[in-house]
Amino acid sequence: KKVVLAYSGGLDTSVILKWLQEAYGCEVVTFTADLGQGEELEPARKKAEMFGVKEIFIEDLRETFVRDYVFPMFRANALYEGVYLLGTSIARPLIAKRQIEIARQVGADAVAHGATGKGNDQVRFELSYYALEPGIHVIAPWREWDLTSRTRLIDFAEKHQIPIAKDKRGEAPFSVDANLLHTSSEGKALEDPWQEPEEFVYSRTVSPEAAPDKPTYVEIEFEKGDAVAIDGEKLSPAALLTRLNDLGGANGIGRLDLVENRFVGMKSRGVYETPGGTVLLAAHRGIESITLDRGAMHLKDDLMPRYAELIYNGFWFSPEREMLQALIDKSQEHVSGTVRLKLYKGSVRVVGRKSPNTLYSLSHVTFEEDAVYDQHDAEGFIKLNALRLKLLRRRGMNS
Ligand code: ARG
Ligand code: SIN
Repeated sequence: KKVVLAYSGGLDTSVILKWLQEAYGCEVVTFTADLGQGEELEPARKKAEMFGVKEIFIEDLRETFVRDYVFPMFRANALYEGVYLLGTSIARPLIAKRQIEIARQVGADAVAHGATGKGNDQVRFELSYYALEPGIHVIAPWREWDLTSRTRLIDFAEKHQIPIAKDKRGEAPFSVDANLLHTSSEGKALEDPWQEPEEFVYSRTVSPEAAPDKPTYVEIEFEKGDAVAIDGEKLSPAALLTRLNDLGGANGIGRLDLVENRFVGMKSRGVYETPGGTVLLAAHRGIESITLDRGAMHLKDDLMPRYAELIYNGFWFSPEREMLQALIDKSQEHVSGTVRLKLYKGSVRVVGRKSPNTLYSLSHVTFEEDAVYDQHDAEGFIKLNALRLKLLRRRGMNS
């Protein structure tokens, strides 16, 4: 028996590592991914070695994450429940996919993760595992073990000489998940949805109040729906998102305090910081505004909430997500050009857009005299649209 564990190197997954060795008596292979969470990865290797782990995988997946997961999602302008940019949701399928690939490589028959039995993440990990490797054995320690309180967890850690950071000894103030796209904080101190989150919850944005009094202008260039350059400088996907995070964070952009509906049925309160993603969404909508046909835009906007829900619920590896992706990608063929944005004290505003593929026609829209549009045409257009409204009124009801 061999299991590939998604291992962060933190206290919880270290306890899981030890617990798997004890309770299951199985050989544990660790997989630690750099998705831009901003933590050192070498300590995770040291710890894994300390636990006698022989096969340790540590991988920088930042480019893959942004190029193959974040960018495709941003082509759709995906938002869950109108506001959540899906920063955690979109990372899970990638982690799961690499776990499965590693399991095949090392001949493991099981995979394990550190998500609880109450949340969305367990669903996202496991739907991805099963979609990619139907026969895989899944171990979710949080659903199985008896370390159900912080005290028991700490006791277990102490008994097995697992290092515990001083601040972790007591109740952790809240649970954090971070990657290049966002930082999310949930639980504990944040569980009362009436209570405003304190400033220390935020780790990658200044507060809008403390942001500079002068606006920052930035230009983002797009090719086929993907951002490729900032202020004229070509950047890789991960480098580009990193740059936008810096610009957004310094201007207090991308904070969100949300009560959302989890897939498992309960509501939860989350505090999110998505600085670069918030800027990117505004920019992408800006370039779409001049390059997308109305019919194409409205159709993809209609489908967007379904697409976002699929990602939220963990169905990245599903035929319906792939079908929607094909439609969205097709819509992006001409979405190229440049957007100028103004970042100021928590807000991001599109103030300029241009494209070789623009559909914006000054000669049509101008308030001055034009030679291309015959205003008389509008009369028949309105009359035929009004026809059924008139018939309804004659009948005596407007519906
Ligand atoms: N509620 C968000 C989501 O479901 C974030 C979950 C983050 N997990 C965490 N351990 N804080 O996508
Ligand atoms: C967890 O329960 O592990 C985190 C929250 C979530 O998955 O929704």
